[in-house]
Amino acid sequence: MANSNPPRNTQTPAEPQVLDSLHRPMRDLRISVTDHCNFRCVYCMPKAVFGTRYHFVGHDGLLQFDEIERLARQFARLGVRKIRLTGGEPLLRPHLEDLVESLSAIPGIEDLALTTNASTLTPKKAEALRKAGLQRINISLDALDEDVFQKMNDVGFPVARVLQAIDDAAAAGLNVKINMVVRRGLNDSQIVPMAEHFRGTDHVLRYIEYMDVGNLNGWQLQEVVPAQEILARITELWPLQPVEAHRYGEVATRHRYIDGQGEIGVISSISQPFCGSCTRARLSPEGQLFTCLFGTKGHDLRALLRDGAADEEIYARLQSIWQARDDRYSELRATSAMTDVKKVEMFHIGG
Ligand code: GTP
Ligand code: 5AD
Ligand code: SF4
Ligand code: SF4
Repeated sequence: MANSNPPRNTQTPAEPQVLDSLHRPMRDLRISVTDHCNFRCVYCMPKAVFGTRYHFVGHDGLLQFDEIERLARQFARLGVRKIRLTGGEPLLRPHLEDLVESLSAIPGIEDLALTTNASTLTPKKAEALRKAGLQRINISLDALDEDVFQKMNDVGFPVARVLQAIDDAAAAGLNVKINMVVRRGLNDSQIVPMAEHFRGTDHVLRYIEYMDVGNLNGWQLQEVVPAQEILARITELWPLQPVEAHRYGEVATRHRYIDGQGEIGVISSISQPFCGSCTRARLSPEGQLFTCLFGTKGHDLRALLRDGAADEEIYARLQSIWQARDDRYSELRATSAMTDVKKVEMFHIGG
């Protein structure tokens, strides 16, 4: 049945170390390791804006791996259990496996994952990442049709190489999910072919509603294909049934094919916001802490680190930032208070 929403797991996990002003614990840390990307996805870094003259964070501005690790240890003490590395394109950061290795050794970190376009993922790299402690990888693929995909990545990157990288990641022992951003008129023709391709594999395909992240992608509501429409198109061919969330605060709702061919997810940030259970903190490449994907201003942790702050001072700062947190942008999106604000860009904060 496509039209009923699966239950979200809304139980607060046991023993939260810190709660925000809306009683949400801090559980996930998304670390953007670079704002560079070799794709120019039209919904994220449109070429007209991100041409050769766009100013990205320079090398000295980036947090170094040891600085990221130091911060991550304090986040873990405050309740973070899951770390996701993102970008930009995180695999453009050389030796990312070194960072993975140090993060995987932090007490309390139970889940270590990466979100990537997979364009530079070789079998050797996948193996190195897994050996270093990476458990899961989410690979973006917006279409199976070559023309549609190339129109979306806008750098002529072929579908076949992403499909190969998906196989290589799985062969290395990584759990693989596929992310497809759906934009009406651009790739909604691919909803069914993508479902067909990944049905019967171990890889969960997640459909993501096109979001109004940042101010540069020219987002329009008419271009969003709501989750219910996505599910209805699939159910017509292969009936689905809702499945309960794995974890508190999971962004995707889960749906299983009733013929046993696996499951899909939908991320309905526009049509059904999930701020009420949002446990995510986000660290930008230059060490700004954002408490919402749609944040307008970060908190400068790099200055704290480079001014010689002790661990306890960092811990206390993170704690007070989180306690003051009241973000719920997606729920407030429709209100006038949220129009015309200058938001952080997706490629900067990593989704
Ligand atoms: P899993 O841990 O595998 O469930 O991954 P994930 O969904 O947390 O991470 P991923 O990087 O694959 O993100 C998928 C999509 O969900 C991206 O488009 C994200 O921008 C979106 N997303 C993740 N977290 C949030 C959030 O807090 N708010 C909103 N609005 N969207 C989010
Ligand atoms: N809306 C929804 N998802 C987006 N992503 C990038 N920009 C947007 C947007 N405007 C996705 C990427 C990747 C994930 C981290 O975020 O495709 O799968
Ligand atoms: Fe790069 Fe990902 Fe943005 Fe595409 S969506 S331009 S792959 S950061
Ligand atoms: Fe969390 Fe902000 Fe997304 Fe709401 S809009 S789910 S508060 S990141």
